[in-house]
Amino acid sequence: MLKSVSPSSKGEAAISAKNGSIKLVAGNSNPELAAGISDWLGVPLTKASVRRFADNEIFVEVLENVRGSDVFVIQSTSYPANDHLMELLIMTDALRRASARRITAVIPYFGYARQDRKVGSRAPISAKLVANIITHAGADRVMTLDLHAAQIQGFFDIPTDNLFAAPVMARDIKERFDLSKVMVVSPDVGGVIRARGLAKRINAPLAIIDKRRERAGESEVMNVIGEVAGYTCILIDDIVDSGGTLVNAADALLANGAKDVYAYITHGVLSGGAVPRITGSKLKELVITDSIQPTKAMREASNIRVLPIASLIGDAIGRTASEESVSSLFD
Ligand code: R5P
Repeated sequence: MLKSVSPSSKGEAAISAKNGSIKLVAGNSNPELAAGISDWLGVPLTKASVRRFADNEIFVEVLENVRGSDVFVIQSTSYPANDHLMELLIMTDALRRASARRITAVIPYFGYARQDRKVGSRAPISAKLVANIITHAGADRVMTLDLHAAQIQGFFDIPTDNLFAAPVMARDIKERFDLSKVMVVSPDVGGVIRARGLAKRINAPLAIIDKRRERAGESEVMNVIGEVAGYTCILIDDIVDSGGTLVNAADALLANGAKDVYAYITHGVLSGGAVPRITGSKLKELVITDSIQPTKAMREASNIRVLPIASLIGDAIGRTASEESVSSLFD
């Protein structure tokens, strides 16, 4: 869907394209988020068509003039990742050939991000390959959210903005919890920087879970670093996929005397049996953003809640369009 942008009624700032009009284009991965961004910016969606031929090839038709426009293509490369990635590439190609002035690929969930290094001999670095093809398709900029590893920005030779869900999460946490009793917890050593950032925002202490397999063939031991007894623990991570990391972390924290355990995770991949695993776990609540469109099962799960991030992405789009600072959104 496409729309032109006029000054916002709800967004934090009126948008002014410096050199021409602005358009928003949405693929099929997350129409609800695209509609939310559209609402936040106060602009009705205009139509584009992204459909399949009988053999499943994707066909895109942009139904408005975009010549000279500053275009934002909104598409998470979530499940089915390859279809959604291909849609993004074909939409970008269509816009480039239609003489858009600048194309920003807005990818709230950047799939393939976990394949960011060679994990063994003759293994690919798929995150780099995906960055290359998005650039070659014609994107001038990329906007994404809580990249699995910040250095993936370096895989692109075009400007990237890696937004953070932390301000939205911190606001929610401040509204719901007595912060004097909250401990932020990183579920693994790799996530410490992200968790520390949130702990700082809400002025809470930090604990870390160190997963170790002492000997091959033995099961993993979860060592909790920090005094969590009596605290409400809030696990912070970028991705929940199978849910295994969170469920095991919640068990370890409760075994160490935590009062209760919540989790705030940016991207709810929740593949396979993850939803029943979470509902059957000791987690009081899992809070995910809608960077990936939640399924019916996720929306109906008793202990899963969705935090909308349309306003955050909308504000970042607004600032990009009017060439204002995006990083100051996170100060
Ligand atoms: C790993 O580095 C990520 O940050 C997440 O912890 C991981 O992807 C979660 O996966 P799962 O939910 O399958 O344990």
